[in-house]
Amino acid sequence: MKNSSRRGFMGMAFGAVAGVGAVASLYAMKRSWDPLPSVKAAGFTTLDMSAYKENELVTEKWRGKPIFVLKQSKEMLEKAKKNPKDLERLIKIGDDHFMVAVGLCTHLGCIPGYNPDEESFLCACHGGMYDSTALVTKAPPPRGLDIPPFKIDGNKLVLGEAGPEYKKMLETGVTLKV
Ligand code: FES
Repeated sequence: MKNSSRRGFMGMAFGAVAGVGAVASLYAMKRSWDPLPSVKAAGFTTLDMSAYKENELVTEKWRGKPIFVLKQSKEMLEKAKKNPKDLERLIKIGDDHFMVAVGLCTHLGCIPGYNPDEESFLCACHGGMYDSTALVTKAPPPRGLDIPPFKIDGNKLVLGEAGPEYKKMLETGVTLKV
């Protein structure tokens, strides 16, 4: 082997070793930067329900998904009481009633817009509509907006935890599991 080619071979060998070392240390660094598995797996969002105003849509976030929260006004609640399918979708906290749902259209996943004057949602993608409890009033969406797992804790709502009210909604087919 000539001197120059030996140098080339040594260089390549050293480069390969250094490369493996770099990958190993990058991997070790990544492991130490990643959040702890328990934190990552937790995925809870706690909402203070005393902060919302009637007929004012607020979009929260849970596990990267938009979550619609709409506190019902007295008129909206009276309207919902006329249709059991509407009423069973609402979450009662103290004396207040809330629509809480994943803000993604159940047709193809667009984000519907809320019109407070009409008290309804319109999905601009294909014209689907939902009422103020997020029940479908106009196709093509196949069902109302899905309700995330929730647990009532005083005047707080913990998203990501399945409390008895949510389990009942699942059992009675009010919502699909998300
Ligand atoms: S995605 Fe909403 S109507 Fe099609």
